[in-house]
Amino acid sequence: MTGLTSRPASSLKGVAKVPGDKSISHRSLMFGALGHGETVVTGLLEGEDVMRTAGALAAMGATITEPEDKTGGIWRIQGIGDSPLKTPRSTVYLGNSGTSARLLMGLVGGYPLHATFTGDESLEKRPMGRVIKPLAQMGVQFESAHGDKMPLKITGASILRPIEYTLPVASAQVKSAILLAGLHAEGTTTVIEPKPTRDHTERMLRFFGAELETETLPNGSGVIRLKGFPKLKGHPITVPSDPSSAAFLTVAALITADSDVLIPNVLINPSRTGLYETLLEMGADITFENRRDKSGEPVADIRARSSRLKGVTVPVARVPSMIDEFPILSVAASFAEGKTYMSDLAELRVKESDRLLAIAKGLTLAGVLAEMGEDDLTVHGMPGRVPGGCTVATNLDHRIAMSFLVMGLAAQNPVAIDDADTMATSFPGFTTLLNGLGADISGD
Ligand code: S3P
Repeated sequence: MTGLTSRPASSLKGVAKVPGDKSISHRSLMFGALGHGETVVTGLLEGEDVMRTAGALAAMGATITEPEDKTGGIWRIQGIGDSPLKTPRSTVYLGNSGTSARLLMGLVGGYPLHATFTGDESLEKRPMGRVIKPLAQMGVQFESAHGDKMPLKITGASILRPIEYTLPVASAQVKSAILLAGLHAEGTTTVIEPKPTRDHTERMLRFFGAELETETLPNGSGVIRLKGFPKLKGHPITVPSDPSSAAFLTVAALITADSDVLIPNVLINPSRTGLYETLLEMGADITFENRRDKSGEPVADIRARSSRLKGVTVPVARVPSMIDEFPILSVAASFAEGKTYMSDLAELRVKESDRLLAIAKGLTLAGVLAEMGEDDLTVHGMPGRVPGGCTVATNLDHRIAMSFLVMGLAAQNPVAIDDADTMATSFPGFTTLLNGLGADISGD
């Protein structure tokens, strides 16, 4: 484990190029691997989580060619088309990546193979029953010695049963797992989501040529219908920068004095921008410049400047569109005038760590009053007076690590984290990028 300390910064200025979107990167590899012909991906996130997906697909027979020096080059995937994926020779290790685990369960479920999936200490604690239940109804078999937890042995079948399934939790991973299995279901697979979640799987399936319809019911639920056995065709994909990673730099600029940061080419799909809406309501000086479309997704350049923030109540309907951003919102809220109230946060308890607890503990250590309930959190802001001066345990959670390093930029005293290695899962180069803007984050 390598610790890092973030010290108060006088100003952050410049252009910060943030790595590719994690959700789109996983899906680019998966759909590329299943398609007919070649998929060429530019801007793939070369973080550990996405590399786990690449490794798993390669272990099951996909041909994925990485750029020579893995520095933002072009990735080429030769799709398997009508050939099957194969039983991997050994256990597939998926590290910290819940997206790899859950989406790949649906994907491999449609092939006649056996695969055992395992992960790190964090992933092995995460609930998989939410994916196992619908996939088992479709005909995929699962064995585990630990209830619904990994390691899990999956036995797929070449023809699955289509189902109609209403998601009991707002989860794009569960929705995507069902749709990926639905590619090999005889007939139409229907997913009903009471609260809309990120829709990259739907967009990309269409982009690759699947017949997929979406509808919004009068009660606000979304319905997705996918016809089985489509002919997916490989496509060039340009991955935009990840709004969940850009969030750290945005908040860093907002809370640090005399700051002005431009983050080019960020995904602004409305199913991902809840944090930005919330920050605007808090009074943040954020602008979205040069709006355009790339590979079927909306993007813009985000500019964030130092701002006086005020506390707000986050509407519950917005929670799924900022589900990964509550740690960094809580940091922003610490520097805002008044109270920020966040609720309907039960899902935070089953992320890479119990994030609700990790946020509340970290804020308390930093001298900020945070009141945690079963599934809600109130942060009492103290603009210009956040004490800091603590070391926060990251518990294999990249977003906790990055959030508290951002806090250290504007607190009265340095903020340290015990383990910085975890940030490589989603944001390689985080420290270098922030230091390039004027931050002082180092290992001593
Ligand atoms: C993701 C969905 C979300 C999110 C995760 C990525 C995806 O998880 O937290 O980082 O790519 O589908 P849930 O579906 O569990 O909410």
